[in-house]
Amino acid sequence: MKFSSSTLGALGASALLASSAGAIELNIDDKNSIKDAAKTMAAGLREWYTGDKPGDTPGNLPDPYYWWECGAMFNAFIEYWYYTGDDQYNDITTQAMVHQIGDYNAFMPPNQTKTLGNDDQAFWGMAAMSAAEVKFPDVGGDTPSWLSLAQAVFNTQAARWDKQACGGGLKWQIFTFNNGYNYKNTISNGCFFNIAARLFKYTGNQTYADWAAKTWDWELDIGLMSKDFHYFDGTDDKINCSEINHIQWTYNAGVHMAGAAALWNVTESEEWKAKLTGIINGTEVFFSKDAPNVMFEVACEQNGKCDFDQRSFKAYLARWMGYTMKVAPWTRELIMPKIQASAQAAAKQCNAGEDQTTCGLRWTNNGANDGSFGPGEQMAALEVTQALLLDEVSGPVGQKTGGVSQSNPNAGAGVQDKPITFNDITTGDKAGAGFLTTLVLLGIIGGAWWMVS
Ligand SMILES: *[C@@H]1O[C@H](CO)[C@@H](O)[C@H](O)[C@H]1NC(C)=O
Ligand SMILES: *[C@@H]1O[C@H](CO)[C@@H](O)[C@H](O)[C@H]1NC(C)=O
Ligand SMILES: *[C@@H]1O[C@H](CO)[C@@H](O)[C@H](O)[C@H]1NC(C)=O
Ligand SMILES: *[C@@H]1O[C@H](CO)[C@@H](O)[C@H](O)[C@H]1NC(C)=O
Ligand SMILES: *[C@@H]1O[C@H](CO)[C@@H](O)[C@H](O)[C@H]1NC(C)=O
Repeated sequence: MKFSSSTLGALGASALLASSAGAIELNIDDKNSIKDAAKTMAAGLREWYTGDKPGDTPGNLPDPYYWWECGAMFNAFIEYWYYTGDDQYNDITTQAMVHQIGDYNAFMPPNQTKTLGNDDQAFWGMAAMSAAEVKFPDVGGDTPSWLSLAQAVFNTQAARWDKQACGGGLKWQIFTFNNGYNYKNTISNGCFFNIAARLFKYTGNQTYADWAAKTWDWELDIGLMSKDFHYFDGTDDKINCSEINHIQWTYNAGVHMAGAAALWNVTESEEWKAKLTGIINGTEVFFSKDAPNVMFEVACEQNGKCDFDQRSFKAYLARWMGYTMKVAPWTRELIMPKIQASAQAAAKQCNAGEDQTTCGLRWTNNGANDGSFGPGEQMAALEVTQALLLDEVSGPVGQKTGGVSQSNPNAGAGVQDKPITFNDITTGDKAGAGFLTTLVLLGIIGGAWWMVS
């Protein structure tokens, strides 16, 4: 994932005209209506993907969309199949996932070295984890199982736990030559927490639970998470994580919510129940007051400054809210009204383009499409809609509850991140880094800049 100043403020594909006619019909009380809406949204998402075309690379979205988002997109397609039974995207999903396995069987393809942060790797790892949980068919033969791919991501990341500064934590970047190597960000640590918690639920192996707890405690100690369960963007290990960039993103809350839900599911403890309740409560900041219970990206949506990455973040909060309701059923009354209102509002503004079903970014405008189009916008609408189908599915499996994906606890273990000889970083990367630095400084100096509570 990268910050890029050039993408800020630019709304994509302005050739598609916004329109108030059309829209995707959605009756939240009718499962066929929900499936139809999801099908239309999924088709719109698929149109952005070109990796299966001759001469293109399976597992890549075209520029300007980074590699990680493609992993996130295939996670969405895996869950689309799970929730609806429609398998029309399974083949491109399998093809892409297998093509991107890369080094150490841990989603570290050499082509992506320049953009490969821990969070980027983890978005593919979480797609593999979902595949194992929903019994997306394993490829078999010599191809690693979905479960073992998630385990490999976990093992490579556990080996990167960095005690040199801040008392621990994962750095954002894996390689020293990438911009952001000194940044310890919440999404990288949150993804690691999420994968560890779900591996614990799947396998019952206590080592994973210990890592999840350790990561949680470190984030709280450093202040990436507040006592009232708000999640901030990150911190700088050059100053021993003594200042925090306080921007809040939907996906940081979501990634922790799902992990906490998995830990509650296995332990049924009061401790994780209280934490999970707190995280759900903390997401209030991402739900509109004007359009009650409708999700929005508070840091950038109203001012039109969400970059290409950020336009997809709501997809993950929605996805993980769906997961949470399934594995911690008592959360349903807290979460379902938000998913219902958000899905209705999202569908209502999917009314642009020639087919009048293209989704924009903002759901809070009472059906007015804001003209921002892309895979992130489509994915967010799809995820919030398919999460309504939770009663159609039996919930994530584990090794003793019907799971079939083969475990390999040593997958990816012992990997040292070898320094790789590399071309000089490009101007574009430097610009990205400059922006990041500015962002961090503003967060630190301003304190309240973009900070929402
Ligand atoms: C790496 O890039 C080459 C050249 O574009 C391409 O043929 C290959 O499929 C890519 N591999 C992966 C894993 O993306
Ligand atoms: C750096 O931060 C860690 C975690 O808060 C703390 O334990 C350690 O003492 C700090 N080191 C210095 C040199 O301040
Ligand atoms: C719920 O959120 C509100 C607003 O952020 C906060 O004041 C309150 O302490 C939270 N309650 C719990 C139980 O975390
Ligand atoms: C844990 O999650 C599974 C689905 O993965 C669900 O069937 C089960 O009821 C949950 N356990 C509890 C105690 O709610
Ligand atoms: C549990 O996971 C750890 C960490 O991956 C691994 O070293 C260990 O062998 C696993 N234990 C079992 C019984 O699978």
